[in-house]
Amino acid sequence: MRVKIEFQPKGKTVSVNKGENILQSALKNRVAIRNRCNGNGTCTTCKVKIATAEPMVSLPSTQEMRMLSEQALTEGYRLACQTRVYGPILVQIPEEAWKSTVKEQIERQRQEKEGI
Ligand code: FES
Repeated sequence: MRVKIEFQPKGKTVSVNKGENILQSALKNRVAIRNRCNGNGTCTTCKVKIATAEPMVSLPSTQEMRMLSEQALTEGYRLACQTRVYGPILVQIPEEAWKSTVKEQIERQRQEKEGI
């Protein structure tokens, strides 16, 4: 079964397999989310905000409980690599993280183009 995830500020809605995590879903669909630890739940660079009331997602993992404050979890922040999706949700990628990821991608593309 498939579920929809809307990513903002990218403004992109994708359809993914139920139970997939947010980070995998984003990367497969060319939505940039930073992931310094490659999804091991140890860096927090993939922190996103789920802006859906009563979202159908997995409960916070032990790793998330360790890495995010109780207040952040209450406000809807989650680690994209640790959060599985079971129903339609809206995901806000924090503006600063979004901008630096896009800058990194542009720089990587420039270096590939120039053969650096
Ligand atoms: S990618 Fe590092 S915590 Fe999610």
